[in-house]
Parts: sequence; structure tokens; C-alpha cells
Amino acid sequence: MEEAFEPRILAFLCNWCSYAGADLAGVSRFQYPPTIRIIRTMCSGRVDPVHVVEGLMSGYDCVLVFGCHFGDCHYVDGNLYTAKRMDVVKWLLDLSGVGADRAEVRWVSAAEGQLFADYVTELTERTRKLGPFDPETFSLPLAAVAGVLNSVRFRWLTGMERQLTERENVYHRKLEEDQFKQVLKTVAGLEYQKALILEVLKEGAQSVREISRKTKLSVYEVSLRLTDLEKAGQVELKGYEGTTPRFISLAA
Ligand code: FES
Repeated sequence: MEEAFEPRILAFLCNWCSYAGADLAGVSRFQYPPTIRIIRTMCSGRVDPVHVVEGLMSGYDCVLVFGCHFGDCHYVDGNLYTAKRMDVVKWLLDLSGVGADRAEVRWVSAAEGQLFADYVTELTERTRKLGPFDPETFSLPLAAVAGVLNSVRFRWLTGMERQLTERENVYHRKLEEDQFKQVLKTVAGLEYQKALILEVLKEGAQSVREISRKTKLSVYEVSLRLTDLEKAGQVELKGYEGTTPRFISLAA
């Protein structure tokens, strides 16, 4: 008989609220499935978005981040950053075909042991319905998502969010939050395409058509992103295959 699928879930818990909530769930004997492996961090804001992707790369079926409720973060606004970053991580996981439901964020206070148990039960059930996650199948898109989250452009933009949305620039203009989100997603989408191409080029010189086939981007998109990468000194033309140009990566 086939064994029932039991999800393996990685959960980052902030020390001050969620971890205490999980502790309370334990001492109060609230029931929840033994599916989570816990990593305690001082604040949910300390969880780098790349850690979420690395959790999936290491074979977890879902990665959760638990933090304090808004207004309760012991480092003032760490959880506000977490919420925004997780929004982009989920959007990128969706874009890459991995699926936004492979990651989640929830807020639990030290007094909410039952809520913690309820969330673990709910998210275990949701992951069970998704089925096992195969990191091999998604190795290329996951590597590209990690590439975006590590990219200088993406990190600069997320680091500048408050500057761009809360203070006026020299032209007395500032971005609305929704405008910023749109800009961030546009940049993340373009960086994702570039990261896919750079990942494929790790195998050596490839023609535009080969890259298009492997990344599932159109030839037009590949050509545009290769132009960007060439200007940035990250790729170089390496001859032609018939009439199709071939490129190599110059990344270290
Ligand atoms: Fe809990 Fe910051 S201390 S989210």
C-alpha cells in the first residue's frame, strides 16, 4: 500500500512572539501535525528572502515565516519588511512556476498558542493537497529566483523603499506604495529573466535559440535580456550558430 504523503515544512519563528507562541502550544498540549522543522530567529525581519528559496531547494515542501503582529515587533518594524519581502517572494515563486503556496507568512503572539497550532494544521493540509515538492524539477527556476533576490538591483530597490515612498526626491516627488510595488515587480520580473539566462549559460556558450528553449522565454525576450546583460558586462557574443548568435557568461 502506498504511504500517505506527510509534508516536510520549514518554519522560521521570531524569538519574541511566534517562538513563545509555539512554546505555549507545546506546554498547553494543543494538537498540531509534527510536520514542521523550526529555526528560531531574533526577528522575522532577519529572515533573508533567499533563505525561503534555499529551504525549497533543500527539499522542504513548504517554507513558513512566523513573526509578531504589526505594532508588536521588538525591533519596531522588522515584520513590516517581512510582509513586503514575502509578498515579492510569493510573486516570484508564482512567476517561476513553483507556486506561491510553497511559502507563507503568518503573525502569532506569545499568547496565541492555539492560533499557532491552527496555522500549522491549516498550512500542513494545504501543502498535503499540493503534493511533494521536487527541487530537481524546479532547480532552474529556483536558482533564478535566488539570483533575483541576491541581485544588487533588487536589493538596492528594496533597501530604498522607505526613502522612495516616504520622502520626496529632489523634484519634490515620492512614489505611492502601490506604484513602488509595481516598480519592484517589474524589476523583479526583468531580473528573473536575466537570472534564468545566466543560469543556462553556466553550462557554456549557447545560442539564443538554445537559451530560449531551455528558459521557455521567447527568442525576443532572450535577445532583449542578452542586450541588457551585454551592456552590464555579464555576457559576451561568442560567434554564430548559422545565423543565430551564441553567447557566453562572463560572470565569475
Ligand atoms: Fe517578532 Fe520582529 S521581533 S517580528
